[in-house]
Amino acid sequence: MAGVAGVAGLSWSSNLSLLPLSKPSRSARRVPSVVVRNAISVETKSYTLQKSEEIFNAAKELMPGGVNSPVRAFKSVGGVPIVFDSVKGCRMWDVDGNEYIDYVGSWGPAIIGHADDKVNAALIETLKKGTSFGAPCVLENELANMVISAVPSIEMVRFVNSGTEACMGALRLARAFTGRQKIIKFEGCYHGHADSFLVKAGSGVATLGLPDSPGVPKGATYETLTSPYNDIETIKNLFNTHKGEIAAVILEPVVGNAGFIAPKLEFLNALREITKKEGALLIFDEVMTGFRLAYGGAQEYFGITPDLTTLGKIIGGGLPVGAYGGRRDIMEMVAPAGPMYQAGTLSGNPLAMTAGIHTLRRLMEPRCYEYLDKVTGDLVHGILDAGKRAGHEMSGGYIRGMFGFFFTARPVHNFEDAKKSDTAKFARFYRGMLEEGVYFAPSAFEAGFTSLAHSSKDIEQTVEAAEKVLQQI
Ligand SMILES: Cc1ncc(COP(=O)(O)O)c(C=O)c1O
Repeated sequence: MAGVAGVAGLSWSSNLSLLPLSKPSRSARRVPSVVVRNAISVETKSYTLQKSEEIFNAAKELMPGGVNSPVRAFKSVGGVPIVFDSVKGCRMWDVDGNEYIDYVGSWGPAIIGHADDKVNAALIETLKKGTSFGAPCVLENELANMVISAVPSIEMVRFVNSGTEACMGALRLARAFTGRQKIIKFEGCYHGHADSFLVKAGSGVATLGLPDSPGVPKGATYETLTSPYNDIETIKNLFNTHKGEIAAVILEPVVGNAGFIAPKLEFLNALREITKKEGALLIFDEVMTGFRLAYGGAQEYFGITPDLTTLGKIIGGGLPVGAYGGRRDIMEMVAPAGPMYQAGTLSGNPLAMTAGIHTLRRLMEPRCYEYLDKVTGDLVHGILDAGKRAGHEMSGGYIRGMFGFFFTARPVHNFEDAKKSDTAKFARFYRGMLEEGVYFAPSAFEAGFTSLAHSSKDIEQTVEAAEKVLQQI
């Protein structure tokens, strides 16, 4: 997308020409097709989500909205949320027996493929010794060493159980270290569901945060300032207006929670410079980008070292995990080394550490990130070319194993730009792709993920499906 312009080494951008929309939405079910095998006519199974629907309907009586995390409910794309039964490599199978090529990867962790044999074998060995000690274990040292060696900014690390916890911890630490209260976050960036981060983003000139959800006290977001992404002028104004009050600037160094939005390199550089000058900390939320854009994360990829970094997803290899880390002098404020309190019953538990260690070991093998770059590039180019042939306005981009596309030809630099894309068309595309056996994230505002388990054949199959669906929507 045009948002990547000017960033050295970024892969690609495309804005496709404007043509009128074609056909309206397609039917909800794939029509049964007939294949001829060895002269015997065999009717293939039609695409049905009957069991998914039954299970989801039951779930709605048991759990709010039938899910344990909102986007899973398919609210923005419509249709029945798919209930899955099993995963392996880049494939997923639902309870109705439908198979999908997966580009969600459990929202990021599955970078080496789902249910990797080595990770599973290691988990079984660890399991035999117990699932949780609530006390130190040597596996924590091993994963901590791997994270510290990999991520440029991290000299010490604290493991927690989710990305939300990691961001909460990093924020408390930034406030404790600087003795200041205010933080700046960017519109469209998600840092978990802790109160301080649930702020409705204002447009134009930054505003004081207002809670984005009932139940979040005004007091919790009063100190949260917001700015459009890629907009350094607003940041300068905020630092001028709130001299000596801002503890930290936190951002997704590549946005994945407003669709895929790349940073301008000069924006990242300016953030590093201004935070240093103003005595504020720079926090890279690498829950999504950590070990995905490069082994050392976005900070290695862009060559910018923040003060604190949050991690999650990949470092737990599919088990619940998070981490925050950074400069030793800052991290030594964390209890019990220092006075900033933060704790966790299951933090550093042996199963999560094991899955993380073996996932990172696989990522240390040569050429992993080149491979991700190649498959993701083929995928995004393929889809955008197919969109162009079908006459759709589209733009898209990718870096290594992270990608996204929008149904708009306009450059997307921030959340406001992203919101101008055609989300109704995305929903039609989404449901069409499901019927073709391709599982993207069920929202126009979520990045997609590839893995080492995606083969060229999987990409070809996906692009062929996209070609077909894009001609129909
Ligand atoms: C950038 C970022 N930060 C924080 C989080 C929160 O992580 P978790 O869902 O593990 O709490 C997410 C989740 O998607 C994320 O993408």
